[in-house]
Amino acid sequence: MTKRLHNKYALITGGTAGIGLETAKQFQLEGATIAVTGRNETGLVDAQALLGNQALVLKSDACNVEQQAELAQRLMDEFPKLDIVYINAGDVTHKPLEDWDETSFDQVMNTNLKGPFFLIQSLLPLLSDSASIILCGSVSAQIGLAQSSVYAASKAGLISLARTLSGELKERGIRVNSISPGPTQTDAFNKFGLSKEKRETLIEEVKALVPLKRMGSPWELAQAAVFMASDESAYMLGSELLIDGGVGNL
Ligand SMILES: NC(=O)c1ccc[n+]([C@@H]2O[C@H](COP(=O)([O-])OP(=O)(O)OC[C@H]3O[C@@H](n4cnc5c(N)ncnc54)[C@H](OP(=O)(O)O)[C@@H]3O)[C@@H](O)[C@H]2O)c1
Repeated sequence: MTKRLHNKYALITGGTAGIGLETAKQFQLEGATIAVTGRNETGLVDAQALLGNQALVLKSDACNVEQQAELAQRLMDEFPKLDIVYINAGDVTHKPLEDWDETSFDQVMNTNLKGPFFLIQSLLPLLSDSASIILCGSVSAQIGLAQSSVYAASKAGLISLARTLSGELKERGIRVNSISPGPTQTDAFNKFGLSKEKRETLIEEVKALVPLKRMGSPWELAQAAVFMASDESAYMLGSELLIDGGVGNL
């Protein structure tokens, strides 16, 4: 049987850990040639070992617009075309309203919204005429979870791009959709800037919020990404797919 992503070239930003790394593995299993990005040296080395030499593992900071142009140029040098873009790298900082300053606000917005916007712009010449662009949103954009203000606003902006860019790119056959995870078991919860005790309390509170009373797994998110990346989802345009244990709808 032909693999679902046979002969497709894919970029996954933030593909050295968590949902992005699992998605990279599943894309490879389905026959795609992949490139992933990350920042941390150890993460990059470990991901290269795991994904093998055929994978392009690139250092690139999603919050830096100049580096997005360089990333696009590198892909143009290495790949004949690009069929799948998964904008997955994200800054997940959560804190109370009074603790935000302009620098931390800009960091989240630049990583989750501005960088991705300009990356997609830079990739336009390489995108194939049936490309699927997948934006990793979050169910947080739909609910009012305390301390998620800037993060949720950045993801709401990104999810909006799935609609507007679909409107703009549909004549080329390019589809832009979003996948919005609910709470998912990854290292992201260690990156909220919380003490161990507060982190564990938060995880329990978050689980209690989920109608299914558990976290999702990166594998469950990766399966959704394979569907969105493949031609099986060809009739989806500007949509948001919630993989969230029911948080957004129940
Ligand atoms: N986990 C959840 O509960 C959850 C829920 C809803 C939405 N999401 C979204 O899902 C996506 C993936 O989250 P995750 O839980 O898989 O996170 P994770 O386990 O922390 O992995 C994040 C990945 O992105 C990379 N990354 C982070 N910032 C980056 C940057 N500025 N530039 C390039 N790469 C960067 C990380 O590598 P480096 O550290 O080396 O940069 C790592 O490879 C994010 O967009 C997040 O907002 C997650």
